[in-house]
Amino acid sequence: MKSFRDKRRDGRPHPARAEQARPRDAFAAGRQQAAPAERRETKPTDRQEARPAPRVLARREGALPAERLPVILEVAPNADYALLDSGAGEKLEQYGPYRIVRPEGQAIWQRALPAKEWERADAIFTGDTDEEGIGRWRFPKAPLGETWPMKHDGIDYLGRFTSFRHVGVFPEQASHWNHMAELIAAAKRPVKVLNLFGYTGLASLVAARAGAEVTHVDASKKAIGWARENQEMAGLADKPIRWIVEDAVKFAEREERRGSRYDIVLFDPPAYGRGPKGEVWQLFEDLPGLTDLCRSILTPKPLAVVLTAYSIRASFFAIHALMRDTFAGMGGTVESGELIIREKSAGRALSTSLFSRWVA
Ligand SMILES: C[S@@+](CC[C@H](N)C(=O)[O-])C[C@H]1O[C@@H](n2cnc3c(N)ncnc32)[C@H](O)[C@@H]1O
Repeated sequence: MKSFRDKRRDGRPHPARAEQARPRDAFAAGRQQAAPAERRETKPTDRQEARPAPRVLARREGALPAERLPVILEVAPNADYALLDSGAGEKLEQYGPYRIVRPEGQAIWQRALPAKEWERADAIFTGDTDEEGIGRWRFPKAPLGETWPMKHDGIDYLGRFTSFRHVGVFPEQASHWNHMAELIAAAKRPVKVLNLFGYTGLASLVAARAGAEVTHVDASKKAIGWARENQEMAGLADKPIRWIVEDAVKFAEREERRGSRYDIVLFDPPAYGRGPKGEVWQLFEDLPGLTDLCRSILTPKPLAVVLTAYSIRASFFAIHALMRDTFAGMGGTVESGELIIREKSAGRALSTSLFSRWVA
């Protein structure tokens, strides 16, 4: 089981070092596969366009922001989307009208629902490597089209069977969307939102509906096309959204130079990605610079900067569920979380591993 942190703990050199070997497997893990097809066509070594030298990071002055830990943001089953069950390496989800089965590496526990519930699936991701796009899906009841109508909190958009087992939306992001919509409404002033690595645009649509002026950036033309379709579908075509096919880092650098500023920045980068001109994005190497850039392009009275990183293969919830399953019937408590080492210098936490313990 590898985690975001383990990548450095397991002896690989830190990616920030210039001569570092690129972790080729990074793209294969977890949600990074969400990237639309054209990104997969290039290998890390071909067609590279260098970005300018990495940003030199200076220490920011002033006290560290207060902290609130751990914050667990939860999406409960709802009318638009529900995680119906999980276990045995798969998850069973309801996306609008369809029941969908997909692989889920985290689900190392057992299924809770009987087999007949799983057998009612409308679509199963097979991952057939000879196939592309919708061919990698199996439809046990009736053949389905590539897209289907979905809703999020009254916003219509298209679910989509993609070749990367993703379905055009990451429902867990709804926690961020709701939070952002509340911030926009509460601001009672014009709000500018930048959505970097914006994919199919749900966050952009939520922000626009809440009244913000939105700039949506993604390296993939295809993803931007899907996002525009979603805007039409949502009936939000008249809302101010700029759709930009661009490398996220280059775009942010340009905004910094031009003096364009934003009240809210969302960034949801993959572990490994490519800009439209082959610019290489590597999370561990590029995230500090991009985070710094995001700070530099904030308005004087910004509202929020939201970063999501999917580069984890396990969370403490996975080993927690495993331990609870295993110790069923023994009473006691299972406590789970992370092991951290507190730093002497600035009091920051170095997270080293996940843990779960059963205590009688
Ligand atoms: C994990 S998805 C983002 C999901 C999205 N925030 C959501 O919740 O729906 C990653 C996206 O990053 C884009 N991407 C990858 N490398 C990029 C780069 N260098 N610049 C801009 N976008 C990039 C991909 O095309 C893909 O759409």
